[in-house]
Amino acid sequence: MTQSSSQTWSQRFESALHPAIAQFNASIFFDIELIEYDITGSQAHAQMLAHTGIISVEEGEQLVKGLEQVRQEYRQGQFTPGVDAEDVHFAVERRLTELVGDVGKKLHTARSRNDQVGTDTRLYLRSQIEQIRGQLRQFQTVMIDLADQHVETLIPGYTHLQRAQPLSLAHHLLAYVAMTQRDWERLGDVYRRVNISPLGSGALAGTTFPIDRHYTAKLLGFDDVYSNSLDGVSDRDFAIEFLAAASVIMVHLSRLSEEIILWASEEFGFVTLKDNCSTGSSIMPQKKNPDVPELVRGKTGRVFGHLQALLTLMKGLPLAYNKDLQEDKEALFDAVKTVQGCLEAMTILMAEGLEFRTARLNSAVAEDFSNATDVADYLATKGVPFREAYNLVGKVVKTSLAAGKLLKDLTLEEWQALHPAFEQDIYGAIAPQQVVSARNSYGGTGFEQVRQALQQARQRLGDV
Ligand code: ARG
Repeated sequence: MTQSSSQTWSQRFESALHPAIAQFNASIFFDIELIEYDITGSQAHAQMLAHTGIISVEEGEQLVKGLEQVRQEYRQGQFTPGVDAEDVHFAVERRLTELVGDVGKKLHTARSRNDQVGTDTRLYLRSQIEQIRGQLRQFQTVMIDLADQHVETLIPGYTHLQRAQPLSLAHHLLAYVAMTQRDWERLGDVYRRVNISPLGSGALAGTTFPIDRHYTAKLLGFDDVYSNSLDGVSDRDFAIEFLAAASVIMVHLSRLSEEIILWASEEFGFVTLKDNCSTGSSIMPQKKNPDVPELVRGKTGRVFGHLQALLTLMKGLPLAYNKDLQEDKEALFDAVKTVQGCLEAMTILMAEGLEFRTARLNSAVAEDFSNATDVADYLATKGVPFREAYNLVGKVVKTSLAAGKLLKDLTLEEWQALHPAFEQDIYGAIAPQQVVSARNSYGGTGFEQVRQALQQARQRLGDV
């Protein structure tokens, strides 16, 4: 400990860090997550140093090869740096030097850990965003397949959690496809700002060496480089944007979770949870619990919290790098893992963990007053002004409720006593299938619209 710390820092330091402070200061326990990206970034940096003649071509090759060896050691579990390494950047550089000798000490020429950690974080986030976008596509595929099976399955639609108008179940499911489509697009947009290289910003002011920042950017697949070195090392907007996009994904997953939890209750009884995705109670033998959606709903708060943490972390920071920035990583890593885990679980749940009780759903919509709007619409198409028709139907609902009847139970005489415009075809107009199928306005729940929406959603899956 004593030895390694005095090795890490320049001759200016005479004594080692207090062990508790070393522990407090270290990020290796979590930033080891960045190791592969750190190695890749360092390899590009070494290649650039050779390309620009800052080191020899041979030295560049030795560094690249040595770094590859560190990667292999790590993958095989032979390289497990501890607290004395402080962070992943030191750990890799030190191991490299052990492996290749003094040339390893040239790697950090024209670079700082400040631009290095920014580069690593962006490389990491870039690949996590790609993965999450892929997972969103899988989730959408499952939802579209499910919707395909349920175009003509009806489900009560709610506003204020009160029965409102019946829907095609497919329409309901496709709403989540639309939401996650925005998530997919939003992440694509965030990606554009993640994919900018800060490498070569140095500690904060650039460097005296004749580096080629565009060369490393190109090697690492960045679209551009930060044009201001101070901004390059201190910007975390891209991480905040990611956490905001991740939070919105969680909002969507959490809303779906809440619906499934309700649907699985005895009171709704719209879905049955299969044994592969639900758990029992340790005391109440009759129970089947919706743990998956409950956990997703519960984990949502963590991701919101990480967004809040990062906003707060940034708000008082003077330019440029401050050690506070080390705190960005756990928030980011946990948000990434949480979103990935939740997306995976919800995709499995929707694909194979539940079954819609279609008979119950179809009959549910026949046993309520959710066709009341259609009676008003019926009168309106026969020339009665809508507001007048609306008031009249309100009265019909009131008297029917009092008589313990549904609208479909009224006799034609009763209808006609209410208004002479009612004819035999009122029964067809208020039948649930017709009520749904008639809402054929663009984006509505009419079966024809839903079939078109399904087709469009499927086509969009191919977008890149
Ligand atoms: N572990 C540090 C971090 O995560 C790396 C950068 C350290 N830079 C410094 N100037 N101390 O932020």
